[in-house]
Amino acid sequence: MSRSGIRVHLVADQPEQATPFLRGLHALGFAVNELPPRREDISEIGRNDVLVILGQYGIDANSPGRLRTLCGERRARTVLFLDSMKPDSFAAFEREGFSCINMTTTRTTQNLVSLVAQIDAHAVYQASRTVAMRTSMTNRIAGSVVDLFSRLRARPVAPTIEESSRQRRAMDELIGLSPMSVWIDLIQNYHDGTAQHCSLVSGYALAFARVLGFGDRETGRLFGAAFFHDVGKAMIPLEILDKPGQLEPEEWEIMKRHVLYSYDILSRDENTAGEIARVARDHHEYLDGSGYPNGIAADGIDDLTRIITICDIFAALTEKRAYKPPKPPEEAYAILSSMAGQKLDPDLVRVFEKVAVECETGRPALALVA
Ligand SMILES: [Fe+2]
Ligand SMILES: [Fe+2]
Repeated sequence: MSRSGIRVHLVADQPEQATPFLRGLHALGFAVNELPPRREDISEIGRNDVLVILGQYGIDANSPGRLRTLCGERRARTVLFLDSMKPDSFAAFEREGFSCINMTTTRTTQNLVSLVAQIDAHAVYQASRTVAMRTSMTNRIAGSVVDLFSRLRARPVAPTIEESSRQRRAMDELIGLSPMSVWIDLIQNYHDGTAQHCSLVSGYALAFARVLGFGDRETGRLFGAAFFHDVGKAMIPLEILDKPGQLEPEEWEIMKRHVLYSYDILSRDENTAGEIARVARDHHEYLDGSGYPNGIAADGIDDLTRIITICDIFAALTEKRAYKPPKPPEEAYAILSSMAGQKLDPDLVRVFEKVAVECETGRPALALVA
């Protein structure tokens, strides 16, 4: 089945409501048009197309049934992006077969894109690619890589200049002009916090590789896995990524999907399919089987993933998030230690102490002698 030419159709009860989203989606590279709210027009659209319903439909008690009639069999590929949703409206729409419904009142184009991605991540990829083609792709990639490394250098455990240039070459080779470069742009434009987190995890992974005495090849593998591990967060609504308080259970379920989105995205590109995609899928799994998405236990978790999980947790603890201030490295390492054995590889956590100390003191740790 051809995946090309996916189009997004906007249906609004008042035409002017569609205008900002028409412009916004077009700017983000989507093939988009407006449709009148008529069943015969909707039934004509392409099989792979995505339908978006905008406006006031959600406030009328009869809306769910009315929209079911309007959308017909397209319900499975429909995003409901409605104003003034009431809590009980969700259940009513779900009963009518709609599964992709805006949870928030902030209706930005970026939030709409993340809902479209839940229906068809490929449509978002295709759009990002279009944008990248529109501008000078090569320059953008070069800019992204330079930016990445300047961020890495600014970190307390930044790699040496030599390491940076070696990794820069590895990154050039790894992403080249491949579709992954589009995702790097997307994550940087969509959520800077995630882009910075990926850079920080990469920095810790490089420092960890150094104290583990890794050679160039292993270091490159580790760096690639660290850098791409959370790319699927480009599919998670910003309200969830930046929520100042604790996530509700249903929001947490959505957040957890980022590992599957990452796996899906990374598996599509030959440069990142296989190992890098697997690490991205498994980096929230724990040795005792209490992690997600599959609850796999010790035997199923390879060394590369164990290393990335430690770097990821340490990064999450030492960085500022919307819901918490950064923890000092010493305190973060104490938390990591408390998870060793049951959840994290105890030998690796022990070795990681050198990275934590390096982070605390700003002085490079000595490489371990095997
Ligand atoms: Fe993650
Ligand atoms: Fe992460």
